[in-house]
Amino acid sequence: MNISFNDDNAKLFISNQEVNSLQENVDHLHADLENKTGQGSDFLEWLHLPSRMPPSLFDLIHSIQEEIREQCNAFVCIGIGGSYLGTRAATTFLNSTTNVKNAPEIYFAGNTMCSDYHADLLQTLEDREVCINVISKSGNTLESAIAFRLLRSFMEKKYGKKGACSRIIVTTGLQKNVISDLAKEEGYRSFQTPDGVGGRFSVLTLAGLLPIAIAGIDIRALMDGALVAENELTISSDLSINSAYLYAVYRHLLFQKGKSIELMAAFHSSFEYVLEWWKQLAGESEGKKGKGLFPASAHYTTDLHSLGQRVQEGTCNLFETFLLMEKSSKVIEIERANGTEDGLDYLEGKSLDFINEKAYKGSASAHLEGGIPNLAITLKERSAHNLGQLFYFFERAVAMTGYLSGVNPFDQPGVEFYKNNMFSLLNKPNTKKGK
Ligand code: PA5
Repeated sequence: MNISFNDDNAKLFISNQEVNSLQENVDHLHADLENKTGQGSDFLEWLHLPSRMPPSLFDLIHSIQEEIREQCNAFVCIGIGGSYLGTRAATTFLNSTTNVKNAPEIYFAGNTMCSDYHADLLQTLEDREVCINVISKSGNTLESAIAFRLLRSFMEKKYGKKGACSRIIVTTGLQKNVISDLAKEEGYRSFQTPDGVGGRFSVLTLAGLLPIAIAGIDIRALMDGALVAENELTISSDLSINSAYLYAVYRHLLFQKGKSIELMAAFHSSFEYVLEWWKQLAGESEGKKGKGLFPASAHYTTDLHSLGQRVQEGTCNLFETFLLMEKSSKVIEIERANGTEDGLDYLEGKSLDFINEKAYKGSASAHLEGGIPNLAITLKERSAHNLGQLFYFFERAVAMTGYLSGVNPFDQPGVEFYKNNMFSLLNKPNTKKGK
């Protein structure tokens, strides 16, 4: 894999013996995942999506991608949580490295109920050629449904009912739901996401792959990368080989030692939405039965000038995981300053990657001295292939961490609580307050 995991700065807190004592447990839990004998076993199809992806699916996506590119220069993905964050992570991560020629600009809706956001979006779309893709596995998520209604009406005004119909794509679950009914009634083109993959594990299904391809990203490379990770992380649960499980074991042990917050800090800005995707994956999967790390994120070095103080000298209830990029796609070096004195001569000829790496090393050792253990996950470089590996790596690690702490990583009963309260406050028929 093009991902490496480093635990040097956690060794003061977690001994090799403690790590190794979990090997047997990990072996059993790995077998539970593979044999579908553990909790949430109906939702394990994500485990082998890369190796089981039918080639015809690439062809289908490719033909839709071509068609959409002809039709529009603005593509709106409507969705929230797992039905949106994977696409956002991929498009943000690969933004300036992909061949985006002819690809429409990607917009997002339905991930907020902010009135101004949607009003501004509709205004932006007015003089654009627009297609939309609503993505909702359950088909009943309020945020997505509202945005879909707003955008449907916008599209029908702009293109007429028939014209709008040819520009709307629905991606939903196999179970009959409001959106699938609507798609049937209106004749929208629609696709299904597999029953056995929960939203936050669905980036490598049509829910993510279609919009990611439309954004101009090479989804074959993404899936090839995921396949490399699938093979490597399936073949053995040995902690000296399986780095996703080793990371999971550290997360589990650190949590048990009172490090209840995992602060994932990235030094490369392309990781911005990968962090958001990871937070959702970890938080919604692991936070149950009074357990679960609180997944937080930071963007270094900017947050070193703010949160850095809290990390260094605040309560020691957290650990950091540095998400690092070994090599940027583009190189910038500090040039000679032509006689002007700006105090930077000592950096002449050094690249920003080099300086950023020293910032990482400097903060890692400072925070360690402040009582904050840290782990590091390094991606070789920025590519669709490597992102596929990273998605899969985190999915495996989160599933294993959830199993280690005895929770079902694949459900989200707590999310229903707020929804019921909100629906009851909105007088939605047939809802009652609470769980
Ligand atoms: O991981 C999950 O299951 C959730 O985050 C869902 O993806 C999110 O709630 C959106 O659900 P849906 O796709 O049903 O609209």
